[in-house]
Amino acid sequence: MESPPRQPLQACRPAAALAGEAAIPGDKSISHRALMFGALAIGQTRITGLLEGEDVLRTAAAMRALGARVERRGDDWLVEGPGIGGLTPPDDVLDMGNSGTAARLLCGILASHDIFSVMTGDASLRQRPMQRVTAPLTACGARFSARIGNRLPLAIQGARDALPISYRLPVASAQVKSAILLAGLNARGVTEVEEPEPTRDHSENMLRHFGATVTVSQHGSARHIQLTGQPELRAADITVPGDPSAAAFPLVAALLVPGSRVILNGIGLNPLRTGLFETLREMGAALTITNPRLQGGEPIGDIIAAFTPLTAVDVPPARAPSMIDEYPILAVACAAARGTSRLRGLAELRVKESDRFSATAAMLGAAGIRVEAQADDLIIHGVPAIPGGGSVATHMDHRLAMSALVLGQITEAPMTIDDSSFIDTSFPNFVELMHRLGAAIAPP
Ligand code: S3P
Repeated sequence: MESPPRQPLQACRPAAALAGEAAIPGDKSISHRALMFGALAIGQTRITGLLEGEDVLRTAAAMRALGARVERRGDDWLVEGPGIGGLTPPDDVLDMGNSGTAARLLCGILASHDIFSVMTGDASLRQRPMQRVTAPLTACGARFSARIGNRLPLAIQGARDALPISYRLPVASAQVKSAILLAGLNARGVTEVEEPEPTRDHSENMLRHFGATVTVSQHGSARHIQLTGQPELRAADITVPGDPSAAAFPLVAALLVPGSRVILNGIGLNPLRTGLFETLREMGAALTITNPRLQGGEPIGDIIAAFTPLTAVDVPPARAPSMIDEYPILAVACAAARGTSRLRGLAELRVKESDRFSATAAMLGAAGIRVEAQADDLIIHGVPAIPGGGSVATHMDHRLAMSALVLGQITEAPMTIDDSSFIDTSFPNFVELMHRLGAAIAPP
């Protein structure tokens, strides 16, 4: 397959402070789940505010290929599924593009459907570990054959009569938890997952919203989740909140560019996603949440971010699951903060869209920041004036690309990224939105 042409971009200090209000696109995690769960429910699900990024559109295409009706109607999306157990065999390979969430959650659905399918993805996704889902899912009776190293492409023969799985997560991963719960939807009996540290619970919330019985009990920091198999999921409308992981980029830009004040409306504030906001507050950030409300079972609010000189922070490993996608942009904030920051327990960053642990360090290095990697910790020596002038390799990773473009708003010399095209996987109007707020981003 030919790869699309690279789209380099350059970011430099804007002429004035960032200002204005912006609506952030829909939450990526919730958008994937809305399409998948809608296809497993009986009746028509209307989704408002679906993220129309490439990752989510891959999920839409896959659910269509498996027999669901998925279409855009006006600004909304309508999903009408064959229901649990009713998916039909796809007549071609399912291509999940850049999306680990789409690939792993779909493995769960396919594991308990008696159909054969083959799944692949782009060069980044084909490097990512799939064993974390295929190993536990074999316990329900599914068979998987993957490329060497348990990488995609992956052939899947789902179980005819799936057994319920009982599994303790060895890594904190909402994708693995969700894959097991999704397999459990078509298994007779109770599927159980134990997670040593809580991860985002959008699957549990949405399953309940569609009528499934999901119980969660907390034992210290661990959670025990039980799902009763073969429920009749009923279609239910979903309004997707703004993605806190996307909001993080304009938000940190506003904190760093002197004099800025930006308002981001309708952002998801699920406590299992807000570790970045907590961390930024510890750094002294002026972040205010206004108009807090509940929308479709998820807390949301408007966030006001205003320029604040930040101080260094020490982030404990236990906070990682609640801000796992936010470390690259947090690292940018730490580069500009007074003092030395320590971000601990980042092993999982090595298996994201890129090896984000190394790539984040390299991004800061390209801007002249001193960074040390000690085991799974990143140590960042902040400076008041960041030299910049470097070029960042983004490794097909949208979050590195956006982080580097925010970094370029405060460096003395412009920062360049080798490719901005992957930003479309999660934040299709990122550059336009940043321009409207006053950021300086242009082709080099
Ligand atoms: C996601 C879970 C996280 C996160 C990803 C989205 C989800 O991955 O990094 O962007 O929607 O469940 P892990 O489960 O691998 O931590």
